[in-house]
This record gives sequence, C-alpha cells and structure tokens, in this order.
Amino acid sequence: MSILRARLAEPEGSVVLVYANRDEESVIFGRELRELTRHHPDRLLVLHHLESLQGLPTIGHLIRLCRPYVPETDLAMICGPQPYMDVCTEALTRLDVPRKMIVTERYRSLESDPFAAQPAEPLTVPVGQEATAVVELDGERRQLAWPAGVTLLDLLLEQGMEAPFSCREGACSACACRMLSGEVKLLRNEVLDDQDLADGYILACQAVPAAERIEVSYDE
Ligand code: FES
Repeated sequence: MSILRARLAEPEGSVVLVYANRDEESVIFGRELRELTRHHPDRLLVLHHLESLQGLPTIGHLIRLCRPYVPETDLAMICGPQPYMDVCTEALTRLDVPRKMIVTERYRSLESDPFAAQPAEPLTVPVGQEATAVVELDGERRQLAWPAGVTLLDLLLEQGMEAPFSCREGACSACACRMLSGEVKLLRNEVLDDQDLADGYILACQAVPAAERIEVSYDE
C-alpha cells in the first residue's frame, strides 16, 4: 500500500494492481483500495483474482490479465507466497518484460543480527584459498590480501571500506557486486538466479575466494 500510495503521489504515476486472494474475506485494504480508485480512476486499476472463484492463478491467466498493461509498464513488483511469485515472474517473462524491470520481495526471519560487530574470522573449516582482491567501491580502487574462508564483506568492513549490506545471510542482495575476473565460492545464495550469476553478480556477504586474484566492482 505504501508503494502504491507513493506512486499515485507522483503527478503522472499510475498503478495496475493484480491482487490475488483466497476469497473475498481475505482481501485486506479492500475499502482503502476502493477509495483510492475513486480518487484516481484514471491512474489506479485493481484487478482482483479470487481463488474461491477462479482457482489458483496460472501463468496463462496472468498473461491474459497483464498483457494489455505491459507496454506502459516501467516496473513490475511482485510479492506473495513463492509459488505465486514464480508464476507471476514466468508470466511477465513470457510477456517479454525485461528481467531488470521485475522486482520481487521476500519475507524471511534472520538467524542473527547482521549489524552486530563481526570480526573477519576465517571459517572453522576454511573454504577456498588465499587470494588477492582488487575492489572498486565508490570510485576508490584497492588491492587487499584476502584470506581463505573470509567473506568479501567481512574483509572490506575490516579494512574500513563502506560496503553495503543488510541481511548478511545471502537472502537480500543488498551486498551484490560484480565480479570482473577470478572466481569465488558463494557459501549461500537465495537471491541471485542463473542469469545474475552468468552476468558476474556475487553476494559479498557469502563470497569466499576460489582463485588467486579476484577483481570485483560495486560501481559497474
Ligand atoms: S547482505 Fe543480504 S545477501 Fe548479502
């Protein structure tokens, strides 16, 4: 709702909300959405899908539902249970919506506090090998000794570099950067897909070295 309201607050902002629910009683924000639609009849369209009437949303159904709005879409945001996000992503992909225009949101409980001080201790059983890291971040380029089993994020934070991060558990991609050369091992990865990996993206909070020299950039 906050994203929807923010978009409508822009003079030209418009939203098509595809809202899937189990049944009519499960629709939260029903009244607010009706009011918003009344205030912005030409900029907000709510398309309801009720499982009780139409069954689970399928790729084909979503394609038919979304096709008329795709040409004017500059961003597709998806949130919901994983199977729903999967069919939505597939439907948009088949409608030729570019991947970079599709944003997904996942909810998950963290296992620890990512902002608690964490020294760059190597893993008990070191993975990978010692390496040299060449890192571009905010226009600065530094060369660092990268011990085996230490994650790139831990290394950069220990060196005083302000590398971005959030979950520190391989689940959010806030720490994503681009590997320009070399090889790393990702200890965990719940967010990057095959295409991201093929494009060179890695998760700094999960990357340990697996080559002698590794170049990464946060600026590309
Ligand atoms: S900080 Fe969330 S995936 Fe690395």
